[in-house]
Amino acid sequence: MAETAQLRIGDKTFELPIIEGTEGERAIDITNLRRDAGVITLDPGYANTGSCQSAITFIDGDRGILRYRGIEIEDLAANSTFLEVAYLLVYGHLPTTAEFDAFTDSITFHTMIHEDFKRFFGAMPKDAHPMAACSAAIGALATFYPDSLDPRDPRQVEISVHRLIAKFPTMAAYSYKHSIGQPFMYPRNDLGYVANFLYMLFGTPCEEYEVDPVIKKAIHLLLILHADHEQNCSTSTVRIVGSSMVNLFSAISAGIQALWGPSHGGANQAVIEMLAAIRDQGLTAKEFVEKAKRGDESVRLMGFGHRVYKNFDPRMKIIKKACSDVLDKLGTRTKLLEIAMELEEIALKDDYFVSRKLYPNVDFYSGVIYNAIGTPSNLFTALFALGRLPGWIAQWMELHADPQFKIGRPRQIYTGPTLTAYTPIENR
Ligand code: CMC
Repeated sequence: MAETAQLRIGDKTFELPIIEGTEGERAIDITNLRRDAGVITLDPGYANTGSCQSAITFIDGDRGILRYRGIEIEDLAANSTFLEVAYLLVYGHLPTTAEFDAFTDSITFHTMIHEDFKRFFGAMPKDAHPMAACSAAIGALATFYPDSLDPRDPRQVEISVHRLIAKFPTMAAYSYKHSIGQPFMYPRNDLGYVANFLYMLFGTPCEEYEVDPVIKKAIHLLLILHADHEQNCSTSTVRIVGSSMVNLFSAISAGIQALWGPSHGGANQAVIEMLAAIRDQGLTAKEFVEKAKRGDESVRLMGFGHRVYKNFDPRMKIIKKACSDVLDKLGTRTKLLEIAMELEEIALKDDYFVSRKLYPNVDFYSGVIYNAIGTPSNLFTALFALGRLPGWIAQWMELHADPQFKIGRPRQIYTGPTLTAYTPIENR
């Protein structure tokens, strides 16, 4: 007989099924708990709640393991490209040459955006944050493609998926170009995915732009490392918004908004701003670490801590090494990298961080690389979003293929006033 857990409430005992994943993770299935026992579970921040069963990404936070579709992140980082990883996440397996060529051709074919979109970006204030602009632009894709919004039509879904992956770099680049008053650069389909993105960001019509292979490699790596991370805040947002049966563009637009927050993807921008503030205010790393230990939420050591990783973040290890390599190759070892390394060294020996299992996360060094290659800090989180896009898409597709599909609708424990009569305004 399958294993169960027993829950005793008063003099009644309830049997709850135990579900086990392929890596031995176990969960108590409470699907019928309220129906059978009249109680719900309470788990603020969902730190202890599985929202779905998923075959996309495996994380073991204690051992610092991250795998996409079973493949170690270290293996993918060393050997793959971002588009190949996107294929892996979306279709569930590594592509054959023919599959990959067809995928790449389709993505390349869809890179342009409707000419009227230029006015969309042009209508935004110059200092519009690229995350706000990208979220709005992705949401607006639904207005340009009303013929492909059905989440249950495989052909419509596939074309929307390809359009999204193809057009996001163009949109992110347009939002940046608008913010600095430079002309939008049309995509160049003779360049690869990342090279074209760099060209649209940093090229101008006045002179040739040559893509630096060191920078191209670093961006591929960063995008791969960000490509999925199971049920984090933005992915859960994509799933819950998607569960209302809304179209893919709307669900991804919501995910971008969730990612923007400084506790999540926005941390990469916050880290570089923190490092610059330490440099500009002439603080020592030790002084800043002391401030971050006061427990004041407004002064945290940004880029440290993770809900799941309690030993180390494997993405951070790869990025730290890449960061050193990139800066050495570009000959731009910066003061910011020095401060970051000092902060890390001090925090890793400090009992406050050690006892709370706070380690540097993916965002701690990524901004230093982006900064060294000339990316403005307000674009960092949009780069994270570009990387996370295939993961969001894969999770949204998995949600719709799930035989247990349901609209996401958590419950609550009400703590407000009990029945209260209405008081007319003259008697208040
Ligand atoms: N600096 C100083 N103290 C911290 C930090 C930090 N970065 N992170 C957590 N703490 C403390 C926190 O004050 C609390 O202390 P106490 O137990 O005394 O109250 C304890 O550590 C546990 O923190 P928590 O906020 O309950 O942990 P959480 O799992 O809810 O939050 C986190 C995780 C990532 C939001 C948090 O560690 C944080 O705010 N880190 C800084 C922002 C950051 O780098 N975010 C990027 C996350 S990785 C990329 C991504 O997923 O997007």
